[in-house]
Amino acid sequence: MKALVLAGGRGTRLRPLTNTSAKQLFPVANKPVLFYGLEAIRDAGITEVGIIVGDTGAEVRAAVGDGSRFGLRITYIPQEAPLGLAHCVLIAREFLADDDFIMYLGDNFLVGGIQELVASFRPQDYAAQILLTPVDDPRSYGVAELGRSGQIVGLAEKPDDPASDLAIVGVYMFTPVVHDAVRAIRPSARGELEITDALQWLIDNGHHVHSHLITGYWKDTGRVRDMLECNRIVLESIETRIGGTVDEGTEITGRVVIEPGAVVERSVLRGPAVIGADTKIIGSYVGPFTSIGDGCEVSDAEIEYSIVMNASTVRGVSRIESSLIGKGVEVTPARTTPNTHQLVIGDHSTVRLRA
Ligand code: G1P
Repeated sequence: MKALVLAGGRGTRLRPLTNTSAKQLFPVANKPVLFYGLEAIRDAGITEVGIIVGDTGAEVRAAVGDGSRFGLRITYIPQEAPLGLAHCVLIAREFLADDDFIMYLGDNFLVGGIQELVASFRPQDYAAQILLTPVDDPRSYGVAELGRSGQIVGLAEKPDDPASDLAIVGVYMFTPVVHDAVRAIRPSARGELEITDALQWLIDNGHHVHSHLITGYWKDTGRVRDMLECNRIVLESIETRIGGTVDEGTEITGRVVIEPGAVVERSVLRGPAVIGADTKIIGSYVGPFTSIGDGCEVSDAEIEYSIVMNASTVRGVSRIESSLIGKGVEVTPARTTPNTHQLVIGDHSTVRLRA
């Protein structure tokens, strides 16, 4: 079995951060979300992985390399434009050959891995297997309608009037018959070849698409609040590890990771939180569910339930919460005093706030 990992796309819902960076490389507990997927694939015993890349291909290649650090063999497959998930299958035809494969959306996060899913796939009986999970607002996902015995009756991509609350999770298993499906379908109203339409084609042509309901945690990290939630979930399971230096004037409660080279002085850290390598936390409060990247400075500031990417500065402002701050960003005070700040700041921005 092979894996096809999708790491292209525009990431429009995470603009402006995706203007300069691949959304699949956004950090969750200071590790790119894509890496969790690659590790899950490896843990399921798969080694041959094709990665579809788009405009941010160079960044993805630089981060993942040849895959050897994950124990994987990676083949990069460039997609000239984000023409849909089924288009990715179409252009990966040669790489996939006639093997069964798992397709994994690089911005999806699945707690618990995919070992069971891969083990339960029965290619002799199923043409494809999908995962479904109940969501609050199914209109931003592919949605499945199930019959009385749990069989899939119909599938729709981002329907205005969803037939159920069951969203299609971005991890799919296919047998080679899917290649007939992706060749047969036509672009949707949004101009993309939809994998949901390919699955519907399989059903319409008498193939068995098996569905599996998951109740565990799943997130498509395509939106800011999903990124923060995903970060929270991963931070829930960290164990304390102090690699940097912490002075006596600092108070730490709960589980925190402080990477080597980090310096924490006169601060209050409330875990779970991670502080990246060579980062300085001075005279500040870092609250629960916060990830601060490498080479950052947080001084005379308060921040919680946020993600700060590498090489950013947060100085003299309080309190920042529910924020996703890009790389090389500077957040410093302006004149008067607000109570909270909620920020979505692109890479290399400079923001002057009222402190
Ligand atoms: C894609 C699929 C959708 C699926 C979702 C899961 O949506 O088209 O069917 O439910 O991934 O993350 P997109 O992220 O491209 O909007």
